[in-house]
Amino acid sequence: MQAFTQYTPTRIVFGKDTEHQAGSLAKQMGATRVFVIYGGGSVVRSGLLERVTTSLSEAGLEWMAAGGVKPNPRLSFARECVEKSKEFGTDFVLAIGGGSVIDTGKAIAHGTANPDTDIWDFWTGKQKVTRSLPVGVVLTLSAAGSETSDSAVLTDEETHEKRGMATDFNRPAFAIMNPELTFTLPKYQVGCGIVDICMHTLDRYFTKSEHNELTDEIAEGLLRTVICNGKIAIKDAHNYDAMSELMWAGSLSHNGLTGLGAQKDFAVHQLGHELSSRFDLAHGASLSAVWESWALYVYQEKPERFAQYARRVWNVREDDTEKAALEGIRQTVDYFKSLDMPTCFGEAEGVGVQSDETLHAMAHSCTYGGVRTIGSFHVCDEKDIYKIYKMANKNCKFSDR
Ligand code: NZQ
Ligand code: ZN
Repeated sequence: MQAFTQYTPTRIVFGKDTEHQAGSLAKQMGATRVFVIYGGGSVVRSGLLERVTTSLSEAGLEWMAAGGVKPNPRLSFARECVEKSKEFGTDFVLAIGGGSVIDTGKAIAHGTANPDTDIWDFWTGKQKVTRSLPVGVVLTLSAAGSETSDSAVLTDEETHEKRGMATDFNRPAFAIMNPELTFTLPKYQVGCGIVDICMHTLDRYFTKSEHNELTDEIAEGLLRTVICNGKIAIKDAHNYDAMSELMWAGSLSHNGLTGLGAQKDFAVHQLGHELSSRFDLAHGASLSAVWESWALYVYQEKPERFAQYARRVWNVREDDTEKAALEGIRQTVDYFKSLDMPTCFGEAEGVGVQSDETLHAMAHSCTYGGVRTIGSFHVCDEKDIYKIYKMANKNCKFSDR
């Protein structure tokens, strides 16, 4: 087990009707002027915005609300909100929504607390976040795990760069998690969420680090739980028990727990970000669209690890390591297909099969113009990335591997 620090300060308030506690929780945490941020309108239609802002008023807090965050949240919108928030004199940010809204909320908190810094400087690494405002979350989508994670992802729509930024200042102060708030999700978003939750653990699980039994068991148990409840949730988004398991798993999968003591990989996330920023593909779909190609490209680095995954997560009964490894990959891809999630470019909404020139451009951009590699299980440079994209660049709906 490698040395690690675990810092997960977020107060989790889980269960039915918990959104009514938003005001009292924010007040306990020192809020007086709350900037409420939300997305394209789902929280207005469901009445959630009204319930939450009522609870803020009842707690005696001043608030202003701004809607309009889009999936794959845009830098320019976050900048606009920072200006509004500065004018309002915000001392607490409350995000009501999924990962895109929460990440925009985190950006607003950093921008408001650092009025002389352009927020993108934090994402490009020019500046480090050394102070911010507290962010509370009312979660409406189990997926990104931003409600407890140390990360926030923004897209500069002018350059098509999608970047994550990690800092402990991104850890929310509280996360209100009422599974009933996810009942209104379209099936596609439920599917994207299931893939993303699995992938936050898989991107940690495929590591060369050894002797990490407890972390392995936690990761495998989480994956089995998500796979099983995902099958129920994709058919019935009103199943409280299944949606509860997904919601709790979504937070645990990305708060650091499932990779403690091991080196992280996260290549699949980086491969996916390029698809999302270029084609505005939903995050979860971008991950399922490249996972099989990544797995087939890298599994020979350590087939025993893939075989362990197959046996413990998918119950594969196969003594041969290579065959077990491949069976685990096949089962994962079949599962994604059963959720109607894309497993290649041809199936991915707004993507389709690309020219060779575009694949090269994507690989170049994924390395930030040739200045970085991605992953650690197999360190992928621009050539590797191109080859993985080429493997995924097909119509796979009716074809088999
Ligand atoms: O905007 P509204 O109208 O609310 O609709 C949203 C949006 O269209 C809808 N939705 C959310 N909750 C709903 C609902 N519709 C009906 N009922 C509800 N209860 O779902 C759509 C997608 O929302 P979004 O927030 O984009 O989804 P998600 O939570 O998957 O977040 C994706 C973003 O998070 C980033 C991704 O890259 C992407 O930009 N990630 C953030 C991470 C982090 N901060 O730690 C880690 C992740 O790996 C990920 O990269
Ligand atoms: Zn993710």
